[in-house]
Amino acid sequence: MRILLLGSGGREHALAWKLNQSVWTNPLYIAPGNPGTAKHGINVPLDITDFDAIRKFCISEKIEMVIVGPEEPLVNGLYDYFKATEELQKIYFIGPSKKGAQLEGSKAFAKAFMKRHAIPTANYKEFTIDNYEEGLKYLQQHPLPIVLKADGLAAGKGVMICQSYVEAVAEFELMIQEAKFGEASKKVVVEDFLSGIELSVFAITDGKNYLILPEAKDYKRIGEGDKGLMTGGMGAVSPVPFATPGFMFKVEERIIKPTINGLFKEGIEYTGFVFFGLINVNGDPYVIEYNCRMGDPETEVVIPRLETDLVGICIAATQQELDKVVMRTDIRAAATIVAVSRGYPTGYEKGYEISGLDGKYGKQSMIFHAGTKEDDKKNIVTNGGRVLCVTSFGEDIEDAVNTSLDVLDHIDYDGMFYRTDIGYEFIPPKPGETQKK
Ligand code: GLY
Repeated sequence: MRILLLGSGGREHALAWKLNQSVWTNPLYIAPGNPGTAKHGINVPLDITDFDAIRKFCISEKIEMVIVGPEEPLVNGLYDYFKATEELQKIYFIGPSKKGAQLEGSKAFAKAFMKRHAIPTANYKEFTIDNYEEGLKYLQQHPLPIVLKADGLAAGKGVMICQSYVEAVAEFELMIQEAKFGEASKKVVVEDFLSGIELSVFAITDGKNYLILPEAKDYKRIGEGDKGLMTGGMGAVSPVPFATPGFMFKVEERIIKPTINGLFKEGIEYTGFVFFGLINVNGDPYVIEYNCRMGDPETEVVIPRLETDLVGICIAATQQELDKVVMRTDIRAAATIVAVSRGYPTGYEKGYEISGLDGKYGKQSMIFHAGTKEDDKKNIVTNGGRVLCVTSFGEDIEDAVNTSLDVLDHIDYDGMFYRTDIGYEFIPPKPGETQKK
């Protein structure tokens, strides 16, 4: 099967690594990809927001399946474009329709969808310039902390947890009046704060049936002990110890089933991945957010733990046959640690040569490229904030994390930084140590 994977981060490297293991794959193209994906397929310099360029490539290369990594082309309607274009209609497409992608593209849409289908989530109200004054009054009466969410896509930066009324009002004004996140914050969702521990649950659906993939927990803040600025993700572990069968039963019954059934009942076309960003509040799961794609860096632990052929799963999804697939998962734990550039997530420099990528490490470890590129001299250099992810398997989370740390010890570039405490809540303190917080 001639496959085109869209995207260029660590998530797409992990997907390319897995897709290339399938007997069905021949060949695999990645657009635009990165030096890591080039080891598992053919990188093509396509702009993934340019639908016409994608169309021409699909026709010239006789592409039979398209798998979309990031959300932007989906929120912009790439699925609908394929369905509306005669030459592309028969291509198997993994990714939801524009309407389905609104689960991620509009927080207000997602909240209203959850309300319609009685899916547990925090209470909320939405505001625009039209009911701005009402919003100010609402904020003043709201218990602290107050969660403000830009309605649209804001590159992962559109959520504010405000600890005071002064902060909440200032952010509310910035978002609506000053367009802090452009169009994305013209509408703001004000939400109750939920206290608990978060996890990421993934499913692939054919619009009717679904398969639940291994769950993961990601670590979003730059500093050890979850301190400092929010990032795109500094590491992830899978499985998540508190995602017990009892907890996952509640997740499936209260959240996954009503979501998939809700999409089906509302006639929303959705063939692809659903990312449930959840929080465990005293043993009960609530939805913090939906995404219409796999997570990053969660994919770098979820996909390695998936033993079943991913191309087979994707084909079954396009044929509404996911109920016929038996999914197998590696019972080992996996941990990924993300190495970033000095200064990330604010300003950072790039172009530094990376050494140690060809070091000898065992089969239990994988290096997934995120922000890297090949320079004129064929050296691999840094090319982004999140540079690479080292994933390892282990008997447990501690073992997997330690193995990734050993691999990272042999990799170097100017300004390299990574957290050493990924998975800390699940690693028992050593004698004489207190648990890191
Ligand atoms: N790790 C969170 C995300 O992919 O949005």
